[in-house]
Amino acid sequence: MTIGIIGLGYVGLTLAVAAAAKGIEVYGVETNQHIKDCLKENRAHFYEPGLDNLIKRNNGKNLHVVEVFPKNVRFDAFIITVGTPLKEGGTPNFDYIRSALQGTVKDVYDGSQLIILRSTVSVGTTRNIVMPFLSKLCGKPEEEILVSMCPERTIEGKAIDELSHLPQIISGNNKESLEIAQRLFRIMTPSVVEANSLEEAELIKLYCNTYRDMTFAIGNAFCMAAQEFGVDGIAAIKNANYGYARSNIAKPGFVAGPCLEKDAYILINNMPECDSRDFILGARKFNESLIDLVVKWVESKIGAPSEEKVVALSGMAFKGQPVTSDLRGSSSVYIAERLNKKGYKLNLHDYEAIPEEMKALGLGVVYNDLHDACANARLLLVLNNHKKYAMLTDDQIFHADRGFEILDSWGVCTELHYCEDVKISTLGNMFNKGQETALRGMELTEKETGL
Ligand SMILES: NC(=O)c1ccc[n+]([C@@H]2O[C@H](COP(=O)([O-])OP(=O)(O)OC[C@H]3O[C@@H](n4cnc5c(N)ncnc54)[C@H](O)[C@@H]3O)[C@@H](O)[C@H]2O)c1
Repeated sequence: MTIGIIGLGYVGLTLAVAAAAKGIEVYGVETNQHIKDCLKENRAHFYEPGLDNLIKRNNGKNLHVVEVFPKNVRFDAFIITVGTPLKEGGTPNFDYIRSALQGTVKDVYDGSQLIILRSTVSVGTTRNIVMPFLSKLCGKPEEEILVSMCPERTIEGKAIDELSHLPQIISGNNKESLEIAQRLFRIMTPSVVEANSLEEAELIKLYCNTYRDMTFAIGNAFCMAAQEFGVDGIAAIKNANYGYARSNIAKPGFVAGPCLEKDAYILINNMPECDSRDFILGARKFNESLIDLVVKWVESKIGAPSEEKVVALSGMAFKGQPVTSDLRGSSSVYIAERLNKKGYKLNLHDYEAIPEEMKALGLGVVYNDLHDACANARLLLVLNNHKKYAMLTDDQIFHADRGFEILDSWGVCTELHYCEDVKISTLGNMFNKGQETALRGMELTEKETGL
């Protein structure tokens, strides 16, 4: 089989490489020069386990990075993987999809190849935007063209592994489209799920990410509730889940990244009259509110900003596990932006993020070494759950004559929690009100308690 992929970003490149590794002939087109330069050097522009090895093995063999799709190649399918960032107002920006069709596919598309939309879109996009466009492009009626919506559902940091076994949601505008999509994805994964319509496939993608967002919101909400009663939220969640299969309450943490920060909004704005909107929006807003909480915590610890009040932020990538270098949609970056705007001096560190990308944020001094990042800092904010934090010891962060306070937001600095002279808080106890508030709201009288 021969496919063309439009966009070699996170989704497009991992898919291109995984497909090429399974013997599919893959042509990829990308507009970003930096990405193309990296690929010329046989490496990806981001960190993803296993990806660079597969690029080295397949680039120039059955993976071809080209400026335009060659006209003398017979393509079975084109897969669109361009970005769909939110516009103001919360609907996705379709400009990249339009330019992918108009600019990149147009010259080689004759209506006989399957067009697969892989990007995350509002429900209805494939049928109402993509299909009419393609029909016009090739001059064939919509019933005769071949269109599929096959959303990407991999998680950054495990994409290569997941592409070989995750069930692929496929859909098509007709039987032939479904058959081609089926044939293609069966080469890559043993399990393919046929959605009943293009719309169902689009919705499944939005549901999956909204579900995750809301699940994490519940964990975060419980943690905040626990603090009302002087209870440590993280410890309580751990004990609540232990051996009790009916509870799988998520640990608290930032719900971030280029997908989770936007997909619930795409869904909400897609259904302006639906009764579940407020429920979904509440979860999203609550997860976003953790950013304010961290800023508030900093202010509560060191007060108004000044030259000497330096805050070290470690864990700038949007998550630590599975490992990623991705700074897009990272709560850590939003926290840094807020603190920077308030006037705090910041030192930034991350175990995986690319230092040049962190420097380009223009939010603080970037350090490769956490010990150095802490040298002049009053506070350390550990903002993602990278595995290395578990082994972090006090001598790796403290400087001989000075201690400071740490916000271990995810509660992952295991070793440090055993260290007696470390003042450390988490999202589970950062604003713990203490047990005297436990009876608030009950309005119990002495008579009622029987005391
Ligand atoms: N990142 C993820 O893990 C993930 C997972 C599931 C779904 N998604 C969805 O997949 C889509 C892509 O996400 P991403 O993270 O890969 O985005 P990305 O920005 O990393 O990749 C898109 C790439 O397309 C390129 N591009 C744009 N227009 C082009 C054109 N006309 N021709 C050629 N290349 C072009 C861009 O330069 C960019 O490199 C989004 O809709 C996203 O929501 C992402």
